Amino acid sequence: MINLIMRNTKKYPKLQIHLTLSKNSGSRYNVLKIKCEYKNYIMNPSKIKENVLLIKANDWDRRLFDSLIPLPDGTSYNAYLIKGSEKTVLLDTVDPGTADVLLSQLKNIKSLDFIVSHHAEQDHSGLIPRILEKYPMAKVITSLKGKEMIVDHLRVPEEKVTVAEDGEELSLGDKTLKFIYTPWVHWPETMSTYLKEDRILFTCDLFGSHIASTDIYVTDEKKVYEAAKRYFAEIMMPFRTIIKKNLQKINEYEIDIIAPSHGAIYDKPNFIQSAYKDWISDTPKNVVVIPYISMHGSTEKMVQHLRAALSKSGVTAHQFDLAATDIGELAIALVDAATIVIGTPTVLAGPHPNVAYAAQLANLLRPKAKFASVIASYGWGGKAIEQIAGMIPNLKVEIIEPVLVKGYPKEKDFKALDKLADTIARKHKENGFLRI
Ligand code: FEO
Repeated sequence: MINLIMRNTKKYPKLQIHLTLSKNSGSRYNVLKIKCEYKNYIMNPSKIKENVLLIKANDWDRRLFDSLIPLPDGTSYNAYLIKGSEKTVLLDTVDPGTADVLLSQLKNIKSLDFIVSHHAEQDHSGLIPRILEKYPMAKVITSLKGKEMIVDHLRVPEEKVTVAEDGEELSLGDKTLKFIYTPWVHWPETMSTYLKEDRILFTCDLFGSHIASTDIYVTDEKKVYEAAKRYFAEIMMPFRTIIKKNLQKINEYEIDIIAPSHGAIYDKPNFIQSAYKDWISDTPKNVVVIPYISMHGSTEKMVQHLRAALSKSGVTAHQFDLAATDIGELAIALVDAATIVIGTPTVLAGPHPNVAYAAQLANLLRPKAKFASVIASYGWGGKAIEQIAGMIPNLKVEIIEPVLVKGYPKEKDFKALDKLADTIARKHKENGFLRI
């Protein structure tokens, strides 16, 4: 009798097929039993450096984060275990939904001295209470604001928590951790940890990417760049100004490896550092983003005409049909856009609800765009344009004269759209975004 376990880790990473075979004659076998299992593989921690281990919990099938952010490639939660000659520390935990991965990979760790919480959000700190049950002598180390948050949100006993000041060091014997406050890389309490001897910077959400993968380091730069940009757009973009300061602070350190708590680790840190430098810069690119909805074709016709007119003037335009688009794609485009033109039909005297949602999302994400306009259609009246303009107070944009069309667009409407495209091209040129 022969027992076989078959896996296809690439396409169906959770699928295991157990076959029990008996040899028949020659090279023929009879199948006695087939059992299929769909499960998370339990792996051992992965070595990053001597006594620095990655515990990566892949969440292959998660498709939404914070009930808002699409995750086309799933995500991973990365915790790190550092074993010093005297003390052992766990940097972050993982999402409670993947508790089995962390707990099983800690099975050979007899004692733990510290748990560092870089960020109180549940996907990194949600398992602290369980880890404290397993290691009752461990202390939780976090930032000043982090203490209040993990006590509040996760009901971690206050007496278990020690505050690390910005710049404070902790010796583990032959390894030294330095805590660096990097606030607002998602929430206000966030901090990073620099492992001095190994020159590794652990950044939690900062520099993360939502990709589930068995790879430890970046292997496909194009894929990770896209995922990291999507992540930046959806999570980090509203905090561009403060991230700029955080990056300046980080620049003081010699870094060989950046180890975030989502996605791949960067063994060439410059890859992600220079991408962030571009994304946080105040200078947008020669790009117009047009999120729109069309109910009966009028708004769509306007969008198509405007996009073609912009293209003729040398301006790149991306249109997003909000009835079909992945909202993350729109967010990515907003990272670079100099101008946003919102297209909407009029529904019950206002903008289409999907357009209102996109306008509100753009307002929350605070992209660096410098100009905005609205192109709208209506049947018999309404205030779609005025209402959209009122939904984007956070955008520091100059509003370019909107185009409002009754029914299907006609010759004079196409001329108005041409004029809008000319104005956008001129503004891009005057500001140095369009160089022709
Ligand atoms: Fe990955 Fe803000 O949590």
